[in-house]
Amino acid sequence: MTPDLLEQGARHAEQYRAAHAVARGNTESGGREAGFSRLHTPGEVDTTHGRILYLEEVSVSFDGFKAINQLSLDIAPGELRCIIGPNGAGKTTMMDIITGKTRPDAGRVFFGSTIDLLRYKESEIAQMGIGRKFQKPTVFEQLSVFENLELALKTNKAVTASMLFKLDSKQSDRLAEVIHTIHLAGSVSRQAGYLSHGQKQWLEIGMLLMQDPKLLLLDEPVAGMTDEETERTAELFLSLKGKHSLMVVEHDMSFINTISDIVTVLCDGSVLAQGTLAQVQADERVIEVYLGR
Ligand SMILES: Nc1ncnc2c1ncn2[C@@H]1O[C@H](COP(=O)(O)OP(=O)(O)OP(=O)(O)O)[C@@H](O)[C@H]1O
Ligand SMILES: [Mg+2]
Repeated sequence: MTPDLLEQGARHAEQYRAAHAVARGNTESGGREAGFSRLHTPGEVDTTHGRILYLEEVSVSFDGFKAINQLSLDIAPGELRCIIGPNGAGKTTMMDIITGKTRPDAGRVFFGSTIDLLRYKESEIAQMGIGRKFQKPTVFEQLSVFENLELALKTNKAVTASMLFKLDSKQSDRLAEVIHTIHLAGSVSRQAGYLSHGQKQWLEIGMLLMQDPKLLLLDEPVAGMTDEETERTAELFLSLKGKHSLMVVEHDMSFINTISDIVTVLCDGSVLAQGTLAQVQADERVIEVYLGR
């Protein structure tokens, strides 16, 4: 090869690298493009590049008010990410967007590097393995703890199909494991209506866990709980970390302090700060808008 050709080749390689860098998203991991060109099985969530959820420059307005404003954020598989921020910051709206309840006006939302969540309906997104817990517990009060968990496995809601439904051994094992995880092993046959507020919350989390979700979104899970229930919920979340990815929105700072690795502070629909709780608590802008002086 002539020196000329060598030089030309080096120039091309440099241009390619520069173009590639530009094409990457502005998120910490290099954006979802970081996962491109890897082998991927259709239908599976591709996390080979180390991220399970990406939001890139997402915006949504309600009657001209920007509830979410150029929001970029990503989460690693198995991570327990805490989201804090003042009322109206857009935390719940962000979850609405991830779960397909609200469509953004702009931006991209990806589950792994290949699944464009904006192309799917809310029910399809739930089926893919994104479970969501709203603030109010929604368990079936007339049914027992066991029946509630069993029901969470039923995909065919037709009455006859439900009556014929029997757990296979794998599902029975899963149910036993989940009951233990949510601290309700002693209340298996108890009617859900008689559980405490905290226990109902755990049961609902258990119902989500029966589907073995890859990503769990939890909006203010300890609101209304006693201190003891809050502590047990912290233990529960720490035990789920690693097996599932979790996004937890909370205002309870001592709870956040117990469970958090990375905390993202949302304000006016975008990320104001991110880091350990100590780091964001020391951030002047965060103190100004949220924590107070
Ligand atoms: N469907 C909607 N229509 C109109 N406005 C909405 C809608 N959903 C949210 N908003 C507005 O968007 C903003 C963000 O609301 P959001 O509920 O996401 O805040 P949040 O961070 O969850 O607050 P909180 O801590 O109080 O739960 C608020 O000003 C809210 O009134
Ligand atoms: Mg909210």
